[in-house]
Amino acid sequence: MRNEVLFSILLSWVFCSQLCSAGDTLSASQMITENSSSNFVSTNHTFELGFFNLSDRSENRYLGIWYHRLEPQTVVWIANRDEPVLDSSGVFRISENGNLVVEGKSWSSQLETSSSTNRTVRILDTGNLVLMDGDGNFLWQSFLNPTDTFLPGMKMDANLTLTSWRHATDPARGAFTFKLDHTQSYKVEKQSKLYWVFDGLVDTEANSPMILQLLANNSSHKNAFAPPNLSHSRLVMNYSGEIQFLKWNETKWDNLWMGPLDKCDRHNYCGSGRLR
Ligand SMILES: *[C@@H]1O[C@H](CO)[C@@H](O)[C@H](O)[C@H]1NC(C)=O
Ligand SMILES: *[C@@H]1O[C@H](CO)[C@@H](O)[C@H](O)[C@H]1NC(C)=O
Ligand SMILES: *[C@@H]1O[C@H](CO)[C@@H](O)[C@H](O)[C@H]1NC(C)=O
Ligand SMILES: *[C@@H]1O[C@H](CO)[C@@H](O)[C@H](O)[C@H]1NC(C)=O
Ligand SMILES: *[C@@H]1O[C@H](CO)[C@@H](O)[C@H](O)[C@H]1NC(C)=O
Ligand SMILES: *[C@@H]1O[C@H](CO)[C@@H](O)[C@H](O)[C@H]1NC(C)=O
Ligand SMILES: *[C@@H]1O[C@H](CO)[C@@H](O)[C@H](O)[C@H]1NC(C)=O
Ligand SMILES: *[C@@H]1O[C@H](CO)[C@@H](O)[C@H](O)[C@H]1NC(C)=O
Ligand SMILES: *[C@@H]1O[C@H](CO)[C@@H](O)[C@H](O)[C@H]1NC(C)=O
Ligand SMILES: *[C@@H]1O[C@H](CO)[C@@H](O)[C@H](O)[C@H]1NC(C)=O
Repeated sequence: MRNEVLFSILLSWVFCSQLCSAGDTLSASQMITENSSSNFVSTNHTFELGFFNLSDRSENRYLGIWYHRLEPQTVVWIANRDEPVLDSSGVFRISENGNLVVEGKSWSSQLETSSSTNRTVRILDTGNLVLMDGDGNFLWQSFLNPTDTFLPGMKMDANLTLTSWRHATDPARGAFTFKLDHTQSYKVEKQSKLYWVFDGLVDTEANSPMILQLLANNSSHKNAFAPPNLSHSRLVMNYSGEIQFLKWNETKWDNLWMGPLDKCDRHNYCGSGRLR
C-alpha cells in the first residue's frame, strides 16, 4: 500500500517534470505549447509566459508575457506581434541554433547561430524574458526588445523604441512610437512624423518626475521625492497615440499620468507648432 503511494507520487513527479512546467526556466529540450499548463510563471508569481489570444472571433495566437492571475489579462510583451500563429500548433522553445523561436511562424530572437547546448530561457519577476548561456550571461532579453510597454527595470536609451499596437485586438506594429531623441527629449511619432515632445523639466504634472526617474532607470533625473512604489506599474504607448502611466490599485489600473494632455500639445495641431 505504502509502496503504491510512493510509486504514484514518483510517477506523477516524473510526468510532471516533463509535462507540467509551472517553473520559470526552460532548457533546450523543453517547450511551451498552446496548452496553458505548459506556461511559465516567474518566481514570485508576478508574470506569466505563454500563448494567448485576444479575441474569440480570431484564430490568432501570440506568445507573450502578462501579469499572472490579474483580471483583465494585461499583456506587457509579445514575441510574434506581426506574425500570429493561426492554429493551435504554436511552440516556443530554444532552437538547435541557440535562438528563441516561435515555431509555426517565423519569429526568432535573431542571434548569431550557435549551439543550444547549455542555453536556458527564464522569465524573471521583473517581467524580463532572458536567454542565458551556461554561465548565466544574458544573450538576449525582452527588456531590450519591447513591444508597447515599458516596465520598471528597463532603461530608455537611444536604442529602445515602444511601438503601439494597431488596435485592441491587433498587437501588430501600429502608427505610434515612443523614443528618446538625440536632444535627450522623449518624443512620440505618428508614422515617423513628430507628434508630441515630452520635456519633463517644464511639465508641471506632479507625477512627471517619477516618470523620468522610471525611464532613466534611476541613473539620472534624481529627485527629492520619496522613492515611488513601482510594483505593478507600467508605461504604455497606446494605439490612440497617448503615453499612459498606469498602476494597479487593488481591482483596476489607475491612470496616474498621460500625454499629450490636450490637443494643442500635439505638434502643429493648433497651428503654431507649439511644443512643451
Ligand atoms: C494540457 O496538459 C494537461 C497536463 O499535461 C493535460 O491534462 C490536458 O489534457 C492538456 N489539455 C489539452 C487541451 O491538451
Ligand atoms: C520575491 O518575494 C520575496 C518575499 O516576498 C522577496 O523577499 C523577494 O525580494 C522577491 N523577489 C523579487 C525578485 O521580487
Ligand atoms: C481565446 O482564449 C480564451 C481564454 O483563454 C478561450 O476561452 C477562447 O476559447 C480562446 N479562443 C480561441 C478562438 O481560441
Ligand atoms: C556546456 O557546459 C559544459 C560544462 O560546463 C561545457 O564543458 C561545454 O563547453 C558547454 N557547451 C557550450 C556549447 O557552451
Ligand atoms: C529606483 O530607486 C529607488 C530607491 O532610490 C528604488 O526604490 C526603486 O526600486 C528604483 N527603481 C528602479 C526601476 O530601479
Ligand atoms: C535598471 O536598474 C536595475 C536595478 O538597479 C538593474 O538591475 C538593471 O540592470 C537596470 N537596467 C538597465 C537596462 O540599466
Ligand atoms: C545602441 O546599440 C549600438 C549597437 O548595438 C551600441 O553600439 C550602442 O552602444 C547602443 N547604445 C546605447 C545607448 O546602449
Ligand atoms: C506596492 O504596490 C503593490 C501593488 O500596487 C502593493 O501590492 C504593495 O503592497 C505596495 N508595496 C508597498 C511597500 O507599499
Ligand atoms: C490612451 O490613453 C488615453 C490617456 O490616458 C486614454 O484617454 C485613451 O482611452 C487610451 N486609449 C486606449 C486605446 O486605451
Ligand atoms: C486606490 O483607489 C482608491 C479608490 O479609487 C483611492 O482612494 C486610493 O487613493 C488609491 N490608492 C492609491 C495608492 O493610489
